[in-house]
Amino acid sequence: MEDWWKKEIAYQIYPKSFYDSNHDGIGDIRGIIEKLDYLQDLGVTLLWICPLYKSPMDDNGYDISDYYDVNPEFGTMADLDELIIKAKEKGIKIIMDLVINHTSSEHPWFQEAINHPDSPYHDYYIFKQGSQESNNWRSVFGGSVWEKVAGRDEYYFHSFSKKQPDLNWENPKVRKELYQMINWWLDKGIAGFRVDAINFIKKDQSYQNGIVDGKDGLSACFAYTRNQPGIEVFFEELKKETFDKYSCMTVAEAVGVQYPDLGIFIGEKGCFSMMFDFNYSNFDINQDEEWFRRQDWQVKDFKELLFKSQREVQKLGWIASFLENHDQPRSIDKLIKDKKNHHYYSKTMIAGMYFFLRGTPFIYQGQEIGMCNFTRESINDFDDIGSINQYKRAIEEGFTQEEALHFLNLRSRDNARTPMQWNQNQYAGFSDVKPWIKMGDHQEINVENQIHDIYSVYHFYQKMINIRKHEDILIYGDFVELKTNDNVIGYQRVYHDQVICCLCNFSELKQSIDHIEGDVLLNNYDDYIIGVLKPFQFVMIKLKF
Ligand code: NOJ
Repeated sequence: MEDWWKKEIAYQIYPKSFYDSNHDGIGDIRGIIEKLDYLQDLGVTLLWICPLYKSPMDDNGYDISDYYDVNPEFGTMADLDELIIKAKEKGIKIIMDLVINHTSSEHPWFQEAINHPDSPYHDYYIFKQGSQESNNWRSVFGGSVWEKVAGRDEYYFHSFSKKQPDLNWENPKVRKELYQMINWWLDKGIAGFRVDAINFIKKDQSYQNGIVDGKDGLSACFAYTRNQPGIEVFFEELKKETFDKYSCMTVAEAVGVQYPDLGIFIGEKGCFSMMFDFNYSNFDINQDEEWFRRQDWQVKDFKELLFKSQREVQKLGWIASFLENHDQPRSIDKLIKDKKNHHYYSKTMIAGMYFFLRGTPFIYQGQEIGMCNFTRESINDFDDIGSINQYKRAIEEGFTQEEALHFLNLRSRDNARTPMQWNQNQYAGFSDVKPWIKMGDHQEINVENQIHDIYSVYHFYQKMINIRKHEDILIYGDFVELKTNDNVIGYQRVYHDQVICCLCNFSELKQSIDHIEGDVLLNNYDDYIIGVLKPFQFVMIKLKF
């Protein structure tokens, strides 16, 4: 099948926070339809929309109770059909989120399984008999992975919240139901999927205890529930029964993948068109993703991780380049430590740094105007289930409330979930009533201001998108790293005998670089002095031979 997805410029929408068209403080599908012109003007060609399916919203839609219906707070299936058609008319494709590691506990399959243990649906999930938990694994959102079934000596398994029971992928009937559902959506005309937590579908079947790693007496489940041997067998079948039958694009969310295992995810034999590589993204926290276990880092450490990712992926396949998503803090706060350096130059520099890497670029809503983290003063201001658990865990581990809050403000998923900032109005033009979640500071950073300012982050994104669309080197070219000093990230894209260089200064001081001459395709300053980068300068140069 043709690799059409290499050319795309993707934009991620978190529907609850994008645009509220029906005055209830919650974003919706008609809101996305109303903003299609904005997206077209920006230049993006593909939307990944976070889950719109029917859901009790325990984890904002990642807990699905009906795969074939739309959550009423987002609209109707007719709205979604209209969105798909109208987006297509504007040259914009749509990929949906595919959440098949778990369902909601309110899904009829789970309800059957719980209420009728003799029904075939009981084996759709993972149950263990006994009067206590089968092992000491900690779930991603805290507490044991096991939840007791009321009135019976039985527990069910959940990698995430207790309202997100894991499906039993060992059961062929489950897999068949899921394949049918996937094909139903692809037949509808969507362009593909972002595939949620897909590396969790195989569990270590021994269900043995892990080494206790926290004061809660539990052991992080990742070593037993993620990237387990044998998962490739599920991947092969999934691909054959669904994706292979269509010319679709699939992006795996796959945290913690080791590079020797890349080939089961991407490339000729891999299951997906591309994947998000978190090895270069989770550089500020430890492997078990507990936000209070922070890792100190320097630009050179980040650079090494980023380059390693590019080198390894290039050996066999394709990647989705990203800085932000609905689970990550805003990139400016993550990558530029000192707040006084959060400005147009640093924001455009980090944009240029990732956007021209080898891979399909993804922009998360609000990133194109440089939205920032939003600092909250109290635990009661957080909505995200993950943040509330991380707070609890930090306190449990002996941190003070202030310290715990500090970790949350650095890492909380709510940072990226504040409403999209369209203008300066009371609710940022997102809604005309109080939004479901606290607003960020939108007086300066908003779409309306930036559209009227040609020196804005928005215009820089628009330019980057335009350039990528017209330079095959930036799509198909190889990635070659440049040797630079520690505070500079420099790389080339090389295609046939053409070369484009990207140079990014991560420091507030001037930095010297090699003498690189050519046509300046993009620059966040007005001038470029050969051999020097100004503070936070980004420059992209096409070499002349
Ligand atoms: C990854 C999603 O991005 C995240 O938001 C969600 O909480 C988990 N998977 C569970 O579905």
